[in-house]
Amino acid sequence: MATLRTSVLGIEFENPFLLASAPPTALIESIEKAFALGWGGAVIKTITPDDLEMIEASPRYAVMREKNKVIGFQNIELLSHHTVKYWCDGIRYLKEKYPEKVVIASIMAPTEKTEWQKLVKILNDTPADAFELNFSCPHGMPEKNIGMAIGTSGEISSMITSWVKEVAKKPVFVKLSPNVTDIVQIAQTVEKAGADGLAAINTVQGFMGIDLETLEPNLNIDGYTTFGGCSGEIIRPVGLRCVAQIKQAVNLPIMGMGGISNWQDAAQYIAVGSDVVQVCTEVMINGYGIIDGLKKGLLNYLETKGMESLLDLKGKALEKITLHKSLNKNYSLKPVVYNDKCVACGKCAKICEESEHCALKLVDKKIKSDEEKCVGCSLCSIVCPQNAISMQQK
Ligand SMILES: Cc1cc2nc3c(=O)[nH]c(=O)nc-3n(C[C@H](O)[C@H](O)[C@H](O)COP(=O)(O)O)c2cc1C
Repeated sequence: MATLRTSVLGIEFENPFLLASAPPTALIESIEKAFALGWGGAVIKTITPDDLEMIEASPRYAVMREKNKVIGFQNIELLSHHTVKYWCDGIRYLKEKYPEKVVIASIMAPTEKTEWQKLVKILNDTPADAFELNFSCPHGMPEKNIGMAIGTSGEISSMITSWVKEVAKKPVFVKLSPNVTDIVQIAQTVEKAGADGLAAINTVQGFMGIDLETLEPNLNIDGYTTFGGCSGEIIRPVGLRCVAQIKQAVNLPIMGMGGISNWQDAAQYIAVGSDVVQVCTEVMINGYGIIDGLKKGLLNYLETKGMESLLDLKGKALEKITLHKSLNKNYSLKPVVYNDKCVACGKCAKICEESEHCALKLVDKKIKSDEEKCVGCSLCSIVCPQNAISMQQK
């Protein structure tokens, strides 16, 4: 029998699914409901000192849809609006009622030693299992020199991590920003400064577009907008890349996230080195109830693969990720056209011609491939509307 139970830095997780710091973790009553439904833990919506001014804009979200499905999300929301006392009382309540669930306090403060240490010392006295330092909110907070303004500077990230570590009585995770040139360098810097673990990724800074009728932004606040944080399926490739890159270079546990919408996404995050995963946007769109499918799907996958625990899956895909120069350049796939499926629309030939290689031709209603010209790029199989081309080794 496989198990989803796992342990990270001495913290026991009944399953690896945590709610990420965001609206689904912004109220004690809601977190309680999520725990009752089976979530393994929650990272609280980022807690800040009570006197840090935070005035929200309306609306604060915009989305990108494919057919009727939300595949991308953009937000310009700030941090928790509840007091530190609300969260201290709430964490005590949650841990008393659900001692087996993991509660992580996400925190952010102005870049002053006393501010960060004061917040940490207050939360030290709660039963929270760990801290998550939010160095990565890309909107609003950087204008106050915090959020992503911290996480894009190795020097400031390192300084604040050591301030926190000086006083923290619980493990400290640093939540990294993908909006940097080299996330590995920031990860290594905070590792040196004493971080016990990492969380990646926060939202990818983006701009959800323009209404071409009015030329006003889609996320329209009285005619204006500001750059926001993108999340959901559209950022998963960035998240997977960041986690894999970090894991190849840094020996710290990772809470992976970014675009997890089903158990398969979660399994991939674990296969590139995450210990546990966090979910936000999918919960905001479909509710806490998705936890059932996440847990059942992942457990069933482990069992089908003969794996006993998440440790059998963790990082297993990493050895297959290498440098371009190390890839086998003698390996070459060629298109095989299934004539029973091909309707001779000629799209593959047209695209092949318009994208450099000119290897495919439509002759007598049949696709002919010039082996000399074909570089095996696979674009023809991608654009075929009939799924009639398969790339195979010849
Ligand atoms: C509306 C919204 C609010 C968020 N607020 C916070 C926050 O307060 N603190 C934080 O660390 N991350 C925050 N995040 C980022 C998420 O925790 C997460 O890192 C990101 O959304 C990527 O995961 P996802 O694709 O599953 O949403 C927020 C995300 C969204 C969409």
